[in-house]
Amino acid sequence: MASLIDASAELDVDPRGVNSGVAPVTYGHGERPPRGDYAQARADYTCEQDWAAYSTADHDLYRRLYERQAAQLKGLACDEFIDAIGQLGSPAQIPRFDALSEKLQRATGWEVVAVPGLIPEEAFFSLLSQRRFPVTGWIRRPEEFDYVVEPDVFHDLFGHVPLLFNPMFADYMQAYGAGGLKASRLESCENLARLYWYTVEFGLIDTSAGLRAYGAGILSSAGELRHSVTSREPLRVGFDLERIMRTRYKIDSYQSTYFVIDSFKQLFDATAPDFKPVYERVAGLHELAADERLPTDRVF
Ligand code: PHE
Ligand code: FE
Repeated sequence: MASLIDASAELDVDPRGVNSGVAPVTYGHGERPPRGDYAQARADYTCEQDWAAYSTADHDLYRRLYERQAAQLKGLACDEFIDAIGQLGSPAQIPRFDALSEKLQRATGWEVVAVPGLIPEEAFFSLLSQRRFPVTGWIRRPEEFDYVVEPDVFHDLFGHVPLLFNPMFADYMQAYGAGGLKASRLESCENLARLYWYTVEFGLIDTSAGLRAYGAGILSSAGELRHSVTSREPLRVGFDLERIMRTRYKIDSYQSTYFVIDSFKQLFDATAPDFKPVYERVAGLHELAADERLPTDRVF
């Protein structure tokens, strides 16, 4: 599922319809109309969550999405995620971001902020570096129950927020944001976006009970959660920073390759060093197709 704020060239600021607020952001090159009201957004792309504007049908859709996913977490999602999912509060209604932020602030110093939809990569990195996680205000349409292209409030909250309650993962996300601002200056955003994709969105973790999902794109997906953990089809490779930075990804189908971490500490430590020399090395190596297998891969 195309579900991150895709920091690759796929993102494109749409020059049409810029009257006030900030420029809308779309996937692709302007063929998809922007979703969300960018006229109300501040310069940093945050806006108010207009909670009163959600309809009964919106809350009901959220509840159905939540219940379908919650029912299949056991044995597929990592314990850190399952332990924190209750922090989202009652599934009966779309959570109020300010109430959720209070809990998050107390746990890890993070908060959630509303955004109209996709935002430019620099705005995204900047918010993460301040421990502010951007959450889309709108919810998908009922006919998008099984699949939505852009991230909506369900994906952003259900997929991403539980692990922000985990101190190590919370620190990783902030470091990622700061690293993103640096990558923008070094013109290495595409390499860094792949790291986000293969960890924050589609990451698997090896536990004593077996492989489990921690990536938001799989945890919020009806079909890919089971597929990523149990199907014989995809390739599962041990975490390898340079390998990930070289690997292209699919935005419109299940992933062909998932990368497996041993722990959140491993993820944090492996990404702590300065990436400048890493970007330089990776720039000299050819890219890898999404389904390519290397002899050096540690395959699960
Ligand atoms: N260490 C990275 C750098 O120097 C920053 C970073 C940390 C990036 C964690 C991603 C994740 O650029
Ligand atoms: Fe996402």
